[in-house]
Amino acid sequence: MLVTSKEMFKKSIEEKFAIGAFNINNMEFVQAILDAAAEEDSPVILQTSASAIKYARIPYLRKMIEAGLEEHDIPVVLHLDHGPDFETCKMCVDNGYTSVMFDGSKYDFEENVRLTKEVVDYAHSKGAVVEAELGKLAGVEDDVNVADSDAMYTDPEQAKEFVERTGCDSLAIAIGTSHGAYKFKGDAKLRFDILEKIKALIPNTPIVLHGASTVIQEYVEMCNKYGGNMPGAKGVPDEMLHEASLRGVSKINVDTDLRLAMTGGIRKIFTENPEVFDPRKYMGVGRDYIKDTVKHKMKDVFGCSGKA
Ligand code: G3H
Ligand code: 13P
Ligand code: ZN
Repeated sequence: MLVTSKEMFKKSIEEKFAIGAFNINNMEFVQAILDAAAEEDSPVILQTSASAIKYARIPYLRKMIEAGLEEHDIPVVLHLDHGPDFETCKMCVDNGYTSVMFDGSKYDFEENVRLTKEVVDYAHSKGAVVEAELGKLAGVEDDVNVADSDAMYTDPEQAKEFVERTGCDSLAIAIGTSHGAYKFKGDAKLRFDILEKIKALIPNTPIVLHGASTVIQEYVEMCNKYGGNMPGAKGVPDEMLHEASLRGVSKINVDTDLRLAMTGGIRKIFTENPEVFDPRKYMGVGRDYIKDTVKHKMKDVFGCSGKA
């Protein structure tokens, strides 16, 4: 059965670990992530953006996850990532999603409160939970792939007011991460001081970190070696993510690392075995790399292995 994130977040706060939220777009991603979570005995969040829904279509996404739940007995959340408006959130809740994000970070504070509250009221009436966002990450919300200059960090006092007024179940904050494969120009830097202030004011609100891929160098190098062009791709080091998991971050979002694992694998096979034209031969390798990546994060970084 799909579950909401309520229980797993409560446990994550009590026992100081984070849960991985992985973006899915097709069957190979779903299988790799669920197989990894089952082997690690970990709770897991599968999330789909609006563009993933457009690509794969809701019935396919839902039924693939249902198939995974027939095979594995672990707590799984189906979550809408970056819901742009009430209608998209409602559509997902009505289609069995147990959790939705309403991303109102592009609006001013009052409008973000008003729109988030509308989604919260609807989702709660149907038994689903809501993630909201306050503060602005550079990246997907901006169409800018550089984190440091324009990032607007979350204000701790505003975060408290926002959670109280909206009744949201979890809060995505901006402390220096950004979406995509190019997160930092110089050294990676996260504002743990801001996280600490937020946790002091709202200790029981699960905190979410977006744009938290490591941008695994092994896969960047694989992409570049076999015909790709991603110079200088760089993300949040494992050690920082581990620290975040110990300091009260409950949900860590990962998309880019899985894309890199799949793409690296496919590029390698295409280059080394140009005679291959059976998609299972290259998609299968990508699926294995995704599974390895998810297991590594659960076991070595987020601390959620054995927490199912
Ligand atoms: O944070 C955004 C995710 O990486 C999803 O990206 O809209 O290209 O599916 P997408
Ligand atoms: P990355 O691009 O760092 O994987 O972030 C993914 C994300 O935040 C999805 O919402
Ligand atoms: Zn995100």
